[in-house]
Amino acid sequence: MVKPSTELVTITKPWGRLDGEINEATRIASVSSLSVSKSMQKQGKGTEIFKEFEAKARPCSDLIGIEIFARNENAIKFWESHGFSYIGLLDQGYLEYTKQLN
Ligand SMILES: CC(C)(COP(=O)(O)OP(=O)(O)OC[C@H]1O[C@@H](n2cnc3c(N)ncnc32)[C@H](O)[C@@H]1OP(=O)(O)O)[C@@H](O)C(=O)NCCC(=O)NCCS
Repeated sequence: MVKPSTELVTITKPWGRLDGEINEATRIASVSSLSVSKSMQKQGKGTEIFKEFEAKARPCSDLIGIEIFARNENAIKFWESHGFSYIGLLDQGYLEYTKQLN
């Protein structure tokens, strides 16, 4: 059987969730959503869940991409502090950010 090249990844915790994809053919991973319960934010939980995804993506990806709503300053700060850089403007007020892994 042929193995599909895109793996959907969901990491769930009692306090949050990350959804992403890892494409082994293109070696590009992406985070499609990350959220931490309001009362649990600013305690390292977002970092913990992202690091788990990054560790899973690293062996089979060169890059992780994310689309961030331009008005979400908190999220921009979060992703920049995790090594993501601004690439360009997307449609509907979203910004493209990427992090090089290898
Ligand atoms: C963005 C989001 C996922 C971050 O989650 P989080 O659990 O607050 O993230 P962390 O606690 O790991 O890091 C957040 C900040 O708290 C700081 N922090 C971490 N642990 C801390 C602690 N023990 N004490 C004080 N500050 C702490 C970090 O330094 C970090 O600062 P920075 O953003 O300036 O780098 C969360 O705010 C969220 O769910 N937002 C709503 C949904 C959203 O916008 N998702 C992103 C879409 S792209």
